[in-house]
Amino acid sequence: QHPQILEGKHLLITAGPTREAIDPVRYLTNKSSGKMGYALAEQALALGADVTLVSGPVSIKALQGVNTITVESAEQMHQAVMENVDNADVFIGCAAVADYKPAELATQKIKKNNTTMAIELTRNPDILADVAKRSNRPFTVGFAAETNDVAKYAKGKLANKKLDMIAANDVSKPNQGFNTDDNALTVYWPEGECALTHGHKQQIARQLLELIHQQLK
Ligand code: C5P
Repeated sequence: QHPQILEGKHLLITAGPTREAIDPVRYLTNKSSGKMGYALAEQALALGADVTLVSGPVSIKALQGVNTITVESAEQMHQAVMENVDNADVFIGCAAVADYKPAELATQKIKKNNTTMAIELTRNPDILADVAKRSNRPFTVGFAAETNDVAKYAKGKLANKKLDMIAANDVSKPNQGFNTDDNALTVYWPEGECALTHGHKQQIARQLLELIHQQLK
């Protein structure tokens, strides 16, 4: 009984954190649960879309009917997105991609030695920016998780990464954002904005997809 507003559309969505290996047993990651990206995939499917989900390591069970590609690192996520972006009508970068990875991957477990140690980090590719740079690109949507000056940073990213839309969440507030079932977003696009007030991630996901549908037309 869901209105099939995304019928015939192919959505490519990233979700979850990435893991950046330090040595064979250690990695750097972040607090993303993947819940928002999975909610977007589930709701997009319910609205009739054909959905490809590129997922970092999460503890959410796979969604029936969603083509899911599981990856670990930002490099792997970048590759999976680039291999699938050509036939996408919409790209939503919901993953919390690690900005940096260890400059060197130790092939053996690093032994403890001194009281301090340093790990040199190097930048990961920006998946969202790389999608947005393509000439024949999908409608490109980013997320901005911020702890302060949320509107300012979100609008900055919309312009700098040349996105079609950005969904900002204030991760400093309790019970929304990372690892929670609820969320609240403020969505910006070049000609407007809309507040999606506090609700379950499934409900927020539905509303965001409705906004994307309106702007796609
Ligand atoms: O600039 P910032 O990392 O805050 O931008 C967040 C947005 O960019 C999110 O949509 C995230 O999925 C995407 N991103 C990405 N690749 C990165 C870093 C962020 O796709 N390496």
